[in-house]
Amino acid sequence: MAIAFSVNGKPVNVEAEADTPLLWVLRDDLKLTGTKFGCGVAACGACSVHVDGAVTRSCSLAVSDVAGKAVTTIEGLKAADGTLHKVQQAWVDAQVPQCGYCQSGQIMAAVALIEQVGTPSDAQIDEAMTNICRCGTYPRIRKAILAATGAAASQGAA
Ligand code: FES
Ligand code: FES
Repeated sequence: MAIAFSVNGKPVNVEAEADTPLLWVLRDDLKLTGTKFGCGVAACGACSVHVDGAVTRSCSLAVSDVAGKAVTTIEGLKAADGTLHKVQQAWVDAQVPQCGYCQSGQIMAAVALIEQVGTPSDAQIDEAMTNICRCGTYPRIRKAILAATGAAASQGAA
């Protein structure tokens, strides 16, 4: 079936089975490979994107469910002139990634959290940032989130 939605501000019209995971349409049809496959069962967060502004695990969302909606991927965060989103810049400054595989999903989750609450508390970070990092970059993720909001990392979180 034909399914129309937008990705990173541009309209797209894809031909896919209704139950195809959004992740595969993004990666295989639209060649947006910044969004990663990890577990495939909505557990790890590597595939996180925004759907109408809400962070969503695209491995477990049927593409038909985003018809008419706005999807944002990691490729859509930077400004048109190439300037990184403030969260991406904070990630660079804090040298968050190790292998990097989980990081686009981590950044998408962090951007959604900051858009939702402004400057999150440690408890809000703990609650919202459920993405898994096998390299254990969690302390630097916390530091970068707080840096992106202008807040200093809390004691013990660096
Ligand atoms: S690949 Fe989607 S949550 Fe792990
Ligand atoms: S940086 Fe390696 S899995 Fe997170």
